[in-house]
Amino acid sequence: MKITVFLGAPGSGKGTQAKRLAESFGYRHLSTGDMLRLAISQKTPIGLKAKSYLDSGNLVPDFIMIELIRNTLSGFVDPVPKRILLDGFPRTLAQAEALDSQAETAVSLAVFFNVSEDILLKRLTGRRICSKCGASFHTIFMPFQASACAQHCKGEHLTQRTDDSEELAKHRLKVFSEQTAPLLEYYESRGRLARLDGSRSIGQVQADMVKIIDSDQK
Ligand code: AP5
Ligand code: MG
Repeated sequence: MKITVFLGAPGSGKGTQAKRLAESFGYRHLSTGDMLRLAISQKTPIGLKAKSYLDSGNLVPDFIMIELIRNTLSGFVDPVPKRILLDGFPRTLAQAEALDSQAETAVSLAVFFNVSEDILLKRLTGRRICSKCGASFHTIFMPFQASACAQHCKGEHLTQRTDDSEELAKHRLKVFSEQTAPLLEYYESRGRLARLDGSRSIGQVQADMVKIIDSDQK
């Protein structure tokens, strides 16, 4: 099992690029944000514990997240995916150390999506999600009109994530710089960090990401 992680502030494009990588390179994409939102909608024990943290834009405590990821990774059997892409985990040093503490879950590469704060805020506040098919759009940068979702779901289920309000988006960016940004130094000092310019267009970022992933596989 080879583990790649996407590191980046809220709105930096982790989810957008992870979906593309999963399709083109056969990665198993695990988004902890998506896992938590599903758990909340299903009112599972983890969902009930996590809800207040997501609603306030704060991180869910490490012990919950580490157990969630450990259980998910150890639960893969027959076939065990060869490549896993973690989107949104780790987000603290304790989470990074938990992955590296076991040989089979050690991270081989961390890709950092570098985007300035003014762009991040525009991306977050303009994001829309189809609650029926799960597709993600942007009012300006990724219009929904040209998508398959527009034909099938007809725009009747477009929603905004509750944590994408301007106030919560700003708070999440602060949480990122205080609690997650230290991971850049963690992976860089171990020779496992690749940086990309995440402020370019979706297609340009994808091309840069593919080059990085290709060179990691050689
Ligand atoms: P999570 O769901 O992971 O949210 P996040 O990290 O805040 O990241 P986002 O999903 O907002 O951004 P993204 O980078 O995926 O951007 P996207 O591709 O969608 O986590 C939510 C919450 O769960 C956390 O706040 C926390 O409470 C909890 N949580 C999750 N993991 C946790 C953990 N490990 N520990 C503790 N708590 C945890 O793009 C955004 C928008 O921009 C879209 O509209 C897209 O169309 C557009 N866009 C993307 N790329 C481009 C581009 N290149 N150019 C123009 N527009 C673009
Ligand atoms: Mg995401």
